[in-house]
Amino acid sequence: MNKRNRKYIYILLALSALLILMTGCYAKKSDKKIIGISAPSNEIQRWALETVQIRDELYKRGYDVITQYASNDVAMQINQIENMIAQGAEVLIIIPVESASLGEAMDMAKEHNIPVISYDMLITNTDAVSYYTTFDNYGVGRIMGEYVRGKLDLDNASRTYNIEFTSGNPGDNNAAYFFNGAKDVLQPYLDNGVLNIVSGQTTFTQCSTPGWSTEKAQHRAENILASFYQDTDVDIWISGSDITSLGIIGALGNSYNGSYPLITGQDCSLLNVKYIMEGKQAMSVFKDPTLLIEATTNMVDEILSGKEVTVNDTETYFNGIKTVPSYLCKPVYIDADNYEDVLISSGFYTKEQLLED
Ligand code: BGC
Repeated sequence: MNKRNRKYIYILLALSALLILMTGCYAKKSDKKIIGISAPSNEIQRWALETVQIRDELYKRGYDVITQYASNDVAMQINQIENMIAQGAEVLIIIPVESASLGEAMDMAKEHNIPVISYDMLITNTDAVSYYTTFDNYGVGRIMGEYVRGKLDLDNASRTYNIEFTSGNPGDNNAAYFFNGAKDVLQPYLDNGVLNIVSGQTTFTQCSTPGWSTEKAQHRAENILASFYQDTDVDIWISGSDITSLGIIGALGNSYNGSYPLITGQDCSLLNVKYIMEGKQAMSVFKDPTLLIEATTNMVDEILSGKEVTVNDTETYFNGIKTVPSYLCKPVYIDADNYEDVLISSGFYTKEQLLED
């Protein structure tokens, strides 16, 4: 090898060393452990706010965080989770777009031994999900049923109340829990005739709303109102979520002239709380995010420090493959009488937010 060639080789070697060093520095930007947060979309108020709150809490606790939203697209979510794994995430916090569709990404997490916390919505059909943090989902539905029972004093009713149900996304494992919780409380009154489902649509599937879409909920409610409530009133509408309540409220505005029904919901989304203040929606179940975020970030700490992970339910959530150890937080309801106490004093909303147009 002549001198000139040797010089080139040295330059090349030096350049490659520099490159390796730079890539190394880039990958090891900091010594902090990385946590991945994957959410369906940031268009739903809950996910937009809570992912930011989880991220901030994880920052406080000394982690680096990658947060991604999947535009409600399963393939995009799988891709984003795989990228988080490639970037070195050590724990994944995932709200799935659809409960049963994360197979490939879950296989990859398992291959890399990365613990997965299913946040609020259970990831099903995989043994790669390590823990589940959520609210008592069946309890959410029961709260709706109990609210109706109490408000209309169904035990002493001297008349029949007409009722309809709008349930949630069949692809969301939570949705049937909400429906069954409410239905189980109200079933005795359906059996003794105090309640009457005039449309005859009684099952979860008949009442369901693919993708929790407000438009689909509205469309179904309009059909029901046009077909069954031209000459009679609907008194109660059990709606699985605030998102579907918006569709029902829209349908009542467009296609109904009778007396206004009692409508349920959950999440205390800003517009729905305003509707509660105006009397267009009766109640919403409040799932205080601070409780869920604390439970979830505590879990991250416990997992990464090898401590025993705190759970309070090891029986309820079978995901098709395994019963996932869970931490369930307690939901409560808000309505026009207590919203200030619950929502403003907890700091969930300011008075100004509720009053602004
Ligand atoms: C959540 C609810 C929410 C619904 C629609 C469910 O998975 O638990 O809080 O209302 O999705 O977004």
